[in-house]
Amino acid sequence: MNPSILLLDEPLASLDPASAHEALQVFRSLADEGKTVILVEHRVEDAIETKPDRMMYMENGKIKYLGDIKNLPNEIDHKQVKLPAPWVVQRVKTLDIQVEEFNKPKVEEKSDPLVVFENVDFRYDDDLPLILENVNLKIYSGDLIAVLGPNGAGKSTLVKHAIGLLKPTKGRVLVNGKDTREMSVAQIARTLGFVFQSPTHMLYAPSVKEELEFGPKNLGYDSNEIPKFVSESLNAVNLGGFEEYPPLGLSFGQQKRTTIAAVLAMRSKILIMDEPTAGQDFANYTHFMETLCKTSEDAQSVLSANFSATLFITHDIDLAVTYSNRVLLFGDKHIVADGTPEEVLKNINLLKQYRVRPTSLLSLNVDLLPKTKRFLPAESLVQYI
Ligand SMILES: Nc1ncnc2c1ncn2[C@@H]1O[C@H](COP(=O)(O)OP(=O)(O)OP(=O)(O)O)[C@@H](O)[C@H]1O
Ligand SMILES: [Mg+2]
Repeated sequence: MNPSILLLDEPLASLDPASAHEALQVFRSLADEGKTVILVEHRVEDAIETKPDRMMYMENGKIKYLGDIKNLPNEIDHKQVKLPAPWVVQRVKTLDIQVEEFNKPKVEEKSDPLVVFENVDFRYDDDLPLILENVNLKIYSGDLIAVLGPNGAGKSTLVKHAIGLLKPTKGRVLVNGKDTREMSVAQIARTLGFVFQSPTHMLYAPSVKEELEFGPKNLGYDSNEIPKFVSESLNAVNLGGFEEYPPLGLSFGQQKRTTIAAVLAMRSKILIMDEPTAGQDFANYTHFMETLCKTSEDAQSVLSANFSATLFITHDIDLAVTYSNRVLLFGDKHIVADGTPEEVLKNINLLKQYRVRPTSLLSLNVDLLPKTKRFLPAESLVQYI
């Protein structure tokens, strides 16, 4: 439409890193041609790439900062907004901030797998091409898996096989040793909770509370216990107080968190989330990722102790760096890399081949790995610099 002002409200959410980078180059060239571009983003590091003339930071409906980028690191709390790793390091050093020790779950001894993909092929229709080809995967107790890969690669298709929503064209998927072809979606839901990529695909109830009660009621849980599950789940995603709100009247980020809470309330053994942090601000997602991904020993909440394994799909590679103990790279219809974050993510050329671009946090972690021996969040890296 060739307008003179472009307002872009989170255009990068759900784009793979290479696509996000290409979109930003387009925005930059439009600005260079004399157009005004206003970009709203949670992905600060990506947004900074466009070399914006000014940055604005809002809190509670008020503009807290509007001006040159170079003063920004001092103005913004790095726990509220995700800043580039070198900025965080600078802040922690200059302001002498105390950093808590970061405990990352270790890879456990392998027991019997909870979910098994055996030579799985899948196509959506007979006359459509294969989306999955010879996929083999075992999910074990203690796994905290991040799945990375290009847009349209088949990541959502893959995880929908684990919950039995899709059945393989060839090969088989086993949940607790049983073929998903012989199980109903409701049966699988006892073992496996699934947060869809799009919140509107899940939300239906008139209130947040009823949305959260639906799953546990259907699974036949004791009705005296359900209110506890509901309030605990809402607190985990910072939505305490929203019980009576209509889910579809919430912001996108709040809707997504409602769907996560709805799945938490079902207390399944395995948690699968399709892009849990898309459209979420940093403080909010840090809160729920820490609650969900902590190991059972240091868990304060019964919630986190409840999951034997967690798998999340993400385009935010820093989420894989920080919270996972296993990374799967998906592309060309199958899993092209499977290992610890340190093994998989240091292979920058392979990542780039699958449209994953290294971030400042990953680069800093790769540089410091000989000293740290494992990947850490930016503020925990300060002691090694
Ligand atoms: N219901 C469907 N019918 C036919 N094709 C489909 C259907 N759903 C997805 N596809 C195709 O399957 C491929 C994989 O889609 P999928 O949603 O699994 O990708 P993805 O890796 O999750 O991508 P994204 O990162 O964009 O979420 C795409 O080419 C898509 O067009
Ligand atoms: Mg997807």
